[in-house]
Amino acid sequence: MYLEDFYNRFSLDESLARATGFNPYYITIESGLDEKGVINGNKMINLASNNYLGLAADSRVKEAAVGAVQKYGASLCGTPIATGYIDLYKRLEEKLANFIGLEEAIILPSCYQANNGLFSSIAGREDLIIVDRFAHSSLIQGIKAVGCKIRPFLHNNLEHLEGILHRSPGYRQVFVVTESVFSTDGSIVPFKEIVDLCETYNAMPVIDDSHGLGVLGKAGKGILEEQKIDGYRGIYTASLGKALANSGGIISGEQRVVKYLKYYCPHLVYSTALTPSVLAGIESVLEIMHSEFETIKKRLDSYKQVIFASLLDAGFAVVSSNAPINSIKTGSKENTFATAKRLFENGILATPFIEPSVPVNEGRVRLIAGANLSQDTIEEAAAIIKRIGHK
Ligand SMILES: Cc1ncc(COP(=O)(O)O)c(C=O)c1O
Repeated sequence: MYLEDFYNRFSLDESLARATGFNPYYITIESGLDEKGVINGNKMINLASNNYLGLAADSRVKEAAVGAVQKYGASLCGTPIATGYIDLYKRLEEKLANFIGLEEAIILPSCYQANNGLFSSIAGREDLIIVDRFAHSSLIQGIKAVGCKIRPFLHNNLEHLEGILHRSPGYRQVFVVTESVFSTDGSIVPFKEIVDLCETYNAMPVIDDSHGLGVLGKAGKGILEEQKIDGYRGIYTASLGKALANSGGIISGEQRVVKYLKYYCPHLVYSTALTPSVLAGIESVLEIMHSEFETIKKRLDSYKQVIFASLLDAGFAVVSSNAPINSIKTGSKENTFATAKRLFENGILATPFIEPSVPVNEGRVRLIAGANLSQDTIEEAAAIIKRIGHK
C-alpha cells in the first residue's frame, strides 16, 4: 500500500490546462531555431526562445560545433577536474573572462548549476544573504542550501536594500544578490548603485547576468559594460544558453575565488564537462559578436519596438522595458493561458508565466523577437497580434 500512497502524492493538477483547453508547457517542437519553427507540422513564429542574437542556428556556429565533434568527439566523458578540461575549454574560459572584463571564469554545465553551487561554496551559516525578491529560482535554491539568514529586498528597490544593509551588522559576510535583466518583465537592475551600496556597507555583490550577457552594453559585454562598472570586485554569473546561443553557465570574478571554486564547487568538480561542440559554438558566437554585434543589436531593438507597438495597438497591457523583451500583463493564470493559447492558435509561440514564476495574479506572456527572424516574419507577427487583439 505504501507504494500507492507514494505515487498518489504525485498526481499533477491539470485542471487549468483542461479549463483553457491548452497546455503551453512541454510543447514538442519539430525543428531548430530557424526562420519558423514547426509544431504539429505547422509553421510557427517562435517568439518564445532566448535566442536574442539569433545565432543558435547560424551556419558558422553550426560549423564550429561540427568541427569540434570531428576533432574531439561527442564528449570527453569526464569532469573538468579530470579528463574534461580540453584546450578549447581553457581558451574559452579565458575569452569569456576577458570579454566580461573580469580576471577569471569557470564554465559549468548550466547557469542553474552555477548559481546552485556557488553559494554553498562561498557562504556559510554565519553569513547573511540579501536577495531581490524576484530573483531566479537557481539563485534562490542555491542560497537556501547555505542554511544562513536570508533577507529578500523589494524588487530593484535601493532604499529597501539600504535599510536592510543598515540594520545588518555583525555577520561574518553579507552578500547582495540580484540579476541584471529580470526576464519575466525585462526590468533592468540599478547595479552601479547596488555596487556602491555594497562598498559603503562592506557587502559582496553577486550578479546573475544571464539575460544581459550578449545583449546589454555597446559591445554586448553585459551589465558591467552597460552601467560602466569598472574594477568590479564582486561575483558574476551568467547563462551561455541565451544570447550566447549554446548552453552552459559561468562564474567569474577575481582569480582567488574562481581558483578556489575550481576545487571546491561540487557542481563543477563532480559533473561532466560541457561537450566540445558546445564550447566551440560559444567561441564562434563570441567571434561573430566581435564584428557584427552592433548590426545584430540594432535589428533586435527594432524588432522589439515593432512588436511592442503592435501589442499596444492591439490593446494589450504591456510592461515597458529597455530590454529586448515584451511582456503582456495577463493577471490571472486562466487569462495567461488563454492569451498564450490565442497567440498559439494564430501561429505565434510565446512564453506564459504563472505562479510561482511570478506573484499570484501577476501573470505574464513574454515575447522575444530574436535577430534571426526576418523583417517579413516580424511584420507578420505584428499583423497577427493586431488582429487577435481587436477580436
Ligand atoms: C536569470 C537566470 N539565471 C539562471 C538561469 C539558468 O540558466 P541555464 O539555462 O544556463 O541553466 C536562467 C534561465 O532560465 C535565468 O533566466
